[in-house]
Amino acid sequence: MQTLSMALRLNNTPVELINTLQTIALAGKDIDFKLRQGSLGGVLGSAGNQNVQGETQKKLDVISNDLLKKVLLECGSVRAIASEEEETYVEGPKDGSYLVNFDPLDGSSNIDINAMVGTIFSIYPDQSTPLSEASFLQPGNNQVAAGYILYGPSTMLVLTTGQGVQMFTLDPAMGEFILTSDQVKVSEQTQEFAINMSNQRFWAEPMQNYIGDLLAGKEGKRAKNFNMRWVAAMVGDVHRVLCRGGLFTYPWDSREPNKAGKLRLMYEANPMSFLIEQAGGLSWTDSERILSIQPTAIHQRVPVILGSSEEVKQCLKSHGVTI
Ligand code: AHG
Ligand code: MN
Ligand code: MN
Ligand code: MN
Repeated sequence: MQTLSMALRLNNTPVELINTLQTIALAGKDIDFKLRQGSLGGVLGSAGNQNVQGETQKKLDVISNDLLKKVLLECGSVRAIASEEEETYVEGPKDGSYLVNFDPLDGSSNIDINAMVGTIFSIYPDQSTPLSEASFLQPGNNQVAAGYILYGPSTMLVLTTGQGVQMFTLDPAMGEFILTSDQVKVSEQTQEFAINMSNQRFWAEPMQNYIGDLLAGKEGKRAKNFNMRWVAAMVGDVHRVLCRGGLFTYPWDSREPNKAGKLRLMYEANPMSFLIEQAGGLSWTDSERILSIQPTAIHQRVPVILGSSEEVKQCLKSHGVTI
C-alpha cells in the first residue's frame, strides 16, 4: 500500500513540492467533508457575488477558494497563488518556490444537484524576481506538477509530476490518499465524445462537420457508432477520458468574438493537458498544442480538444490541421 507521500518520495519529488501537494490534498479533504455534509452543512446555494469572469459564485466556490488560498500561502513552499475566484494573484512568503494556479471548485453548476465536482491545480516554479503577473504567464510546458481532486462517489486525487499519471483514492477511515492506479494510459481509439450539444448553432463549420460525422454513426463516413457523455464539469469528463478513453471538447463559438473558448488556460486547460499528455493522449486548441501556448493573462480562455490521440487527430483534421 502506498500513500500519496510515499509515492511522491519514491518518484524523487523535491521536498518543497511534496509539501505543496500535501497541502492541496489537505484542503481537498476539508472541501470533501463540506461537500458531503451538503444541505446539512449550510454550504449549498449562491454566495450572491460575481467573480472576475462575471459568473455568479456559489458558496462552495468561495469556501473552497478561501481554504486553498489560506493553506497554500501558509505552507511555506508557495510564493503566490492565482485562482478562478481571485481577480489577480495573491502573494505568500518571499522564499516560497512555487506558483500555484487553481480552480477551487470545477463544475459549480453541479453542486446543488449533488453531482460530480472537483478541484484542479497547476504548479509552476517561481522563476522571476520581483513577482508580477508576468511570473505566472509561463507556458504549460513549464508545469512541475498538475492534477485534480474529484469529489464523486469516492474521492480521488489524480496527479502528474511529469513521470506519468497516478490515481489515488481517499480512504475515509485513514484520511489518506492511497495509490490505486499507476501509469494510467488513455486508449488511442474511442467511440465516445463529450461536448455541450446545446451550443451547436454557435460552433464554427469545422466543428459542425466533425460532430456531424460522429452523429452519422455506422452509416456515415466514420463507419462506426459513437456514444455521447457530458458531466458538465470538466474534471468529471476528463476523469472519464483518463479511465476509458474518449474525446472531450469545449470549442470556441460565435458568441466569443475573439475566438476564445469557455475554459480557462491557466487552471483548467493546462493542468488537464499535462495529465492527458502524460497518459499518452493529445490536447490541442483547434490550431495549436495547448501546453506550448505562451499565456497573455491569468484568466485567458482557450478552446479545448483533448483525449484519445487518434480521435483528437480526426477532429483536428476536420479543422485542416494534420499532426
Ligand atoms: P467552473 O464551474 O469552474 O466555472 O467551470 C465550469 C466549466 C467546466 O467545468 C465545464 O466543462 C463547463 O464549464 C460546462 O459549462 P456549460 O454547462 O456552460 O457548457
Ligand atoms: Mn466558475
Ligand atoms: Mn472550472
Ligand atoms: Mn470553478
